[in-house]
Amino acid sequence: MAKKKVTVVGAGNVGGTTAQRLAERNYADVVLVDIVEGLPQGKALDILESGPILGYDSNVTGANDYEETAGSDVVVITSGSPRKPGMSRDDLLKTNQSIVGSVTEEVVKHSPETILVVVANPLDAMCHVAMETSGFPRERVVGMAGILDTARYRTFIAEELGVSVRDVFALVLGGHGDTMVPLPSMATVGGVAITELLPEDRVEAIVDRTRQGGAEIVGLLQSGSAFYAPSAAAAEMVDAILLDQKRILPCAAYLQGEYGLNHLFVGVPVKLGASGIEDIVELVLTDEEVGHLNDSADSVRELVQVLHG
Ligand code: NAI
Ligand code: 2OP
Repeated sequence: MAKKKVTVVGAGNVGGTTAQRLAERNYADVVLVDIVEGLPQGKALDILESGPILGYDSNVTGANDYEETAGSDVVVITSGSPRKPGMSRDDLLKTNQSIVGSVTEEVVKHSPETILVVVANPLDAMCHVAMETSGFPRERVVGMAGILDTARYRTFIAEELGVSVRDVFALVLGGHGDTMVPLPSMATVGGVAITELLPEDRVEAIVDRTRQGGAEIVGLLQSGSAFYAPSAAAAEMVDAILLDQKRILPCAAYLQGEYGLNHLFVGVPVKLGASGIEDIVELVLTDEEVGHLNDSADSVRELVQVLHG
């Protein structure tokens, strides 16, 4: 039986690392696409040549066009500019709108049945671009952010309490920005709520650090943004879809009434399986959490208005 096929668009830090992680899983062939000549081909060959050492035989190819991507089961879109000095948030929005729009057009021409996993920023707005350009149903357009933000939240909780991250369950909802909503009420360690284990000010400090998690890495790296944890998150989503795992994972999904929100991509727990988003999980939130989620949805809505302006 032929292996599944995954395309990763953008062979930069997130795209290259995502391609590597997927190839190492050995259940899918990987096509890496970028506009820079030689970059996707070089990274793909380097990843392919790791196969004999690591024991995988996924095929990995690089390309500057979309012929090779035809019939992809999943396409991960990481192509996008990071914010440069002097660039406003809206400038970045417009630049990446144009990149994600043109990439989606090409992807869909060659893989009309694929599932799109959007990574490029500003994440929630780029999901709108991918969905509007592709004309896909909401099941087949899903954004990566919640898994990453939740991983940061779990890391900080585990560090604070001196426990394994494996025993920390937590959840971050909302848009992928400063207004994201790490939920203290749903964060538990071995089943015990963190609000029972930590004083309020420590919980607040962890929530704040989570909200600033992307900026913390940018501040340390000085050039570029995080890519190890983001690629791990994107690969977890591809696993859930291609292995039909029916995982419940926080992802950006197009809401149609859930959580009282309409026609908007916002991070919520979804069931991810072979059909893409198979269900949206509606949690019972406190009034305060609902307020935070609405504020976060407002910031996404503002960006979407700029897209359409
Ligand atoms: P990067 O700059 O290392 O890579 C971006 C790549 O996209 C470059 O190689 C560039 O040549 C390519 N590209 C640009 N226009 C293209 C086009 N039209 N077609 C094909 N390729 C094109 O950036 P990095 O670190 O890989 O990040 C990629 C994007 O992902 C950024 O927008 C970043 O903000 C976002 N990101 C989102 C996260 C999330 O949680 N959703 C987490 C981390 C990054
Ligand atoms: C992050 O959160 C840049 O969105 C990216 O690291």
